[in-house]
Amino acid sequence: MSAAALLQSPISDLKVTRRGKVRDVYAVDDQQLLLVATDRISAFDCILPTPIERKGEVLTALSEFWFKKLGAVVPNHLITTSIEEMPEPIRRHADQLRGRSMLVQRTEVFPVECVVRGYIVGSGWKDYQRTGEICGHRLPEGLIESQELPAPIFTPATKAEEGHDENISEQRMRELLGDEDTTFLRDTSLRLYNEAREYARTRGIIIADTKFEFGRDVNGRIILIDEALTPDSSRFWPLGEYAPGKSQPSFDKQFVRDYLETLDWNKQPPAPAIPSEIAMATTARYLEAYKLLTGEEL
Ligand SMILES: Nc1ncnc2c1ncn2[C@@H]1O[C@H](COP(=O)(O)OP(=O)(O)O)[C@@H](O)[C@H]1O
Ligand SMILES: [Mg+2]
Repeated sequence: MSAAALLQSPISDLKVTRRGKVRDVYAVDDQQLLLVATDRISAFDCILPTPIERKGEVLTALSEFWFKKLGAVVPNHLITTSIEEMPEPIRRHADQLRGRSMLVQRTEVFPVECVVRGYIVGSGWKDYQRTGEICGHRLPEGLIESQELPAPIFTPATKAEEGHDENISEQRMRELLGDEDTTFLRDTSLRLYNEAREYARTRGIIIADTKFEFGRDVNGRIILIDEALTPDSSRFWPLGEYAPGKSQPSFDKQFVRDYLETLDWNKQPPAPAIPSEIAMATTARYLEAYKLLTGEEL
């Protein structure tokens, strides 16, 4: 049996450094953080009041799967997901935290999201229709929505504290971070994406695009942080249903978005609750993504 759904994590004896849309981040000491993936879900940039059972578990287990699989490309921040190996203030809440917690190396986060796109959708599709480019990449004419690009492109975005991230050119990233780090982050992101996408294809999933985050650890080394290649940070499409020329159903949040579109809600917080059938169907989709990608039941 799995633990109850969790909207906010309960550790009172550690300092919360951030509550993100999905994760609660705690300072363990000056070298380690605890990332707790809750069951919060956001849609249209608003956090919903209804939890998605087991979502935090899927995000944690899938990130761990990819960290292991891609460890040869670049080192990552994961120390352990095993509660038994974590410090006492965490173990005290084992029942609520098991399966959804990652002890990680604390880093100084690069203020740029490293997005890689293999297909043209979302904000990339919008930018292309307007300008023929995405983040400074001039693309062939006549591409249709959701079409595979001739080759994957690196399309960084700045991290906005509030609201939408802003797409920037690689040139702009060079001005922000310098040449050396930009080149390293770009090449590493493309390598991670290419390897993951090739593998996912053999499991019947297209990874249309994804976002990585990187940080610098206490030794000055650049490592992969945050979550990796989950339904929240990527667009997964079932390979069997892929049909370019329109938007593809998103693997995870489609039922939630479709339901919210039927309401008379202006997409400003507070977001409305969703019915339990929609929440349960969404849980099933997250679990299915895990199973398809890893070949194992969570
Ligand atoms: N190893 C790390 N060192 C420092 N910060 C990290 C590390 N891993 C993840 N983070 C940060 O923790 C937060 C994770 O919370 P999340 O819910 O994903 O936030 P967001 O709403 O910004 O997506 C992000 O701000 C991410 O940059
Ligand atoms: Mg995040």
